[in-house]
Amino acid sequence: MLNGKKSLFSGMQATGTLHLGNYLGALKNWIELEDEYESFYCVVDMHSITVRQEPAELRRKARALLTLYIAAGLNPEKNCIYYQSHVPAHAELSWILNCYAYMGELSRMTQYKDKASKNENNINAGLFTYPVLMAADILLFQSDIVPVGDDQKQHIELTRDIAQRFNSIYGDVFTVPEPYIKKTGARIMSLQEPTKKMSKSDENLNASIFLLDDSDTIIRKFKRAVTDSDNEIRHSSDKPGISNLIEIYGIATGKSIAETEKEFEGKGYGEFKIAVGESVAAMLKPVQDRFYELEKDKAYIDSVIKNNAEKASYYANKTLRKVQKKIGFPERIR
Ligand code: TYM
Repeated sequence: MLNGKKSLFSGMQATGTLHLGNYLGALKNWIELEDEYESFYCVVDMHSITVRQEPAELRRKARALLTLYIAAGLNPEKNCIYYQSHVPAHAELSWILNCYAYMGELSRMTQYKDKASKNENNINAGLFTYPVLMAADILLFQSDIVPVGDDQKQHIELTRDIAQRFNSIYGDVFTVPEPYIKKTGARIMSLQEPTKKMSKSDENLNASIFLLDDSDTIIRKFKRAVTDSDNEIRHSSDKPGISNLIEIYGIATGKSIAETEKEFEGKGYGEFKIAVGESVAAMLKPVQDRFYELEKDKAYIDSVIKNNAEKASYYANKTLRKVQKKIGFPERIR
């Protein structure tokens, strides 16, 4: 809670290019929450450096991501959209929470194990304590909910454990957050290996739809999507490829699984894949148009960056000061 209103926090890494999973699992769902919650959406550039980044590229991608948040429909007057590195309280609280997180629990994190296996030459301490920075992000804003895709659930559970541990020692300092995960779209699968989630780090470019892919590319990628060898458009756990496409089509068109199965009864995969591609291209087109417009308006984006960093710092510092006082850091002399 902040100012008597429920609050929320979420963020995305500024690495790679946003894909359809990021959009359907998270960004698209954020828009509908803006009236009910005091909302904070961060471009988590500090998280990005746990894997080596090319500096100019990181800066460019961070700005593109912030612009995409707005292009997707987040109103920066209602939602606080900012860069993590502009609000030092993230790093400060993260250090404190490191002292309340256990090696054992951090070593159980799936994302850590996954990234460590992919970056064997750079298993740095930041990669290991990444979830603690994430806990700091969320707890700084006394967040009631954290709208994310399914893969972040484990990190939010850890955040809850850290918050409860801290509260049990010092009293009610942190709101204990709940994950906010939608039933459909929470786990969009790779188009090439539908038993794996769609991921920014996938080297096969046909496996993911990127938010800025043009319509032809989107349709071509769906045409090439891997499906099973029977030809029935039916949602089932033994048909992961076609089930993934049915879910994507459902979100893009607002149709239920049953409606989609009926619409394509007796029709072939080829026809269905084109329909999915066209519906996704149509869904993303307005976001893309707005992105290219906004990108040109440098002064506007700069003003969002500046104003929102100040707003985020104000709320983050309130929580940070409370924490510092509780744990016994000396009072500031004014
Ligand atoms: P990131 O940048 O990997 O992903 C951003 C968001 O997209 C969701 N997502 C998916 N949803 C459905 N299907 C998929 N295939 C898919 N892939 C990704 C993610 O669940 C996420 O919601 N650690 C976070 C960033 C972060 C954060 C935070 C999130 C840092 N601090 C605090 C929430 C709160 C991450 O790496 O997300």
